[in-house]
Order: sequence, then structure tokens, then C-alpha cells
Amino acid sequence: MNPGLWALGASLIALPLAITASAQQAPGLKAVSSFDGIADKGARSVALFEEMGKVIQHPRCVNCHPRTDRPNQGDASTPHNTPVTRGPDGHGAPGLECATCHGPANVAFSNGKGSIPGHPDWHLAPKSMAWEGASLGAICEQIKDPKRNGGKTLAQIAEHHAHDGLVGWGWNPGPGRAPVPGTQAEFGALTRAWIANGAKCPKV
Ligand code: HEC
Ligand code: HEC
Repeated sequence: MNPGLWALGASLIALPLAITASAQQAPGLKAVSSFDGIADKGARSVALFEEMGKVIQHPRCVNCHPRTDRPNQGDASTPHNTPVTRGPDGHGAPGLECATCHGPANVAFSNGKGSIPGHPDWHLAPKSMAWEGASLGAICEQIKDPKRNGGKTLAQIAEHHAHDGLVGWGWNPGPGRAPVPGTQAEFGALTRAWIANGAKCPKV
């Protein structure tokens, strides 16, 4: 093919690819107002929770809410590379606590490829809050259940989503890791609207 035509063809192909790539890099969350059109309150609540599910079922959250004693890592949620275990209270085994490696803030690897997550209280969610492999409906029922959610009221769940630091890490996961969609403020607003409309759960 003529090199000029080839370049033209390549740029026509490259353009839509570039648009798709940027859409994947910055996925958003729908605003609460975009659910106003759903007349039935219960159906609106379910739709709001399904939107929240884009965050809740993201590997950044699920990797720390495993169903075993070991965290997962990466977008494929493979078992944590060093075989660590939750220990008595989620902070790791005595002598190999999470804080041995996870400092108060994310630290970029010196080779420029990736980072180690950080937070002053980095630890694993208790087994009662296991989300790994669970359906969105099952996770929803768990989040609402004070026997399994750490004794939280719905108002405290909304507060947790809007302001908790480990939740917030999902939007600031460090170099080499995709953040969860939207912003923590938007996620908090969706949670409050889900509760205001009856805190209904998806069937599955
Ligand atoms: C021996 C050091 C070490 C210990 C101890 C350790 N980690 Fe990690 N952890 C790492 C490193 C390094 C990474 C980054 C791996 C990578 O991205 O290549 C990591 C990544 C993670 C991730 C992945 C985040 C994501 O979404 O990709 C989670 C979750 C995690 N650790 C949880 C824990 C928890 C909880 C504990 C304590 C029970 C713990 N880790 C103990 C070194 C450790
Ligand atoms: C570093 C590990 C870690 C990460 C990452 C993490 N969590 Fe958690 N999560 C915990 C721990 C530990 C608890 C229990 C502590 C508490 O109740 O305050 C918890 C509790 C919760 C609870 C309350 C109890 C329940 O019913 O499950 C919710 C809701 C929650 N997390 C949501 C999230 C969301 C949403 C994300 C991602 C944006 C996330 N978490 C990321 C460790 C983590």
C-alpha cells in the first residue's frame, strides 16, 4: 500500500482506539439524579446499589475482603504474593504483620513498575465481611446485617463509604494499580440515596 494511505488508515483506526482506552482509564459513576426517572422506589434503590456495585465488586475492594485467611492482589485477584495470613485480628501473624511491609502511605517501587499499598491501619476485613466470589445481592445482604457488618447501622455504613480511609485508598491505590470508578464523595452520595430509598438489595 502507498505509505501515505497506510498512515491515513492507521490514524483512522487509532482514533477510536484512543477514545476507548481513555474511557477505560477513567470509568465514572452515575450521579444520584440519573436514577430519579425510576418511578418505583424499591427498583430505584436496587438500581442505586447496582451502581455502587461498580466500586464494591472492584478488585481494589474485594482483594481485601477475601473468603480465605489470605488477601488477594492485582486485577486478576491472585493470592497475595508472599503467603501472609490474617492472624488474630486481621493485622497479620505475629512477626509478619501487614505493617512489616505496608507503611502508612503507598510507596512506589524503585524500578518504576508498581507500588506497595500503604495506610496507617492497613489490615484485612474480617471473614464475616467476605465478598470474594459472592454475588452483588449476597454482598448487599451482608453489608446490611449488623451481625456480620461489625454492628453498623445503615447510617454508619453510609459514613464508612463516604469517609473511611481504607475505603478511600480505592481511589488512591498507588502507581501501577487501577483506581475504583468515580470519586469517594459520589460513592457516599449513592450510598445515602440507596438507604433513603429503602436499602433494597438486588435478587442475585
Ligand atoms: C512480606 C511483605 C508483605 C506483608 C507482610 C504483607 N504484604 Fe500485602 N503486599 C506486599 C507487596 C509487595 C504488595 C504489592 C504487590 C504488587 O503489586 O506487586 C502487596 C499487595 C497487597 C494487596 C494488593 C492490593 C491490590 O488490590 O492489588 C493487598 C490487598 C495486601 N497486600 C494486603 C495485605 C494484608 C491485609 C496483609 C496482612 C495480613 C499484608 N498484605 C501483608 C507485601 C506484603
Ligand atoms: C486494606 C484492606 C481493605 C480495603 C482495601 C478495603 N477494605 Fe473494607 N474493610 C476492611 C476492614 C479491616 C474492615 C472492618 C473494619 C471496620 O469495620 O471498620 C472493612 C469493612 C468494610 C465495610 C463494613 C462492613 C461490611 O459489611 O462489609 C464496608 C461496607 C467496606 N469495608 C467497604 C469497602 C469498599 C467499598 C472498599 C473499596 C473501595 C473497601 N472496603 C476496601 C478492609 C479493607
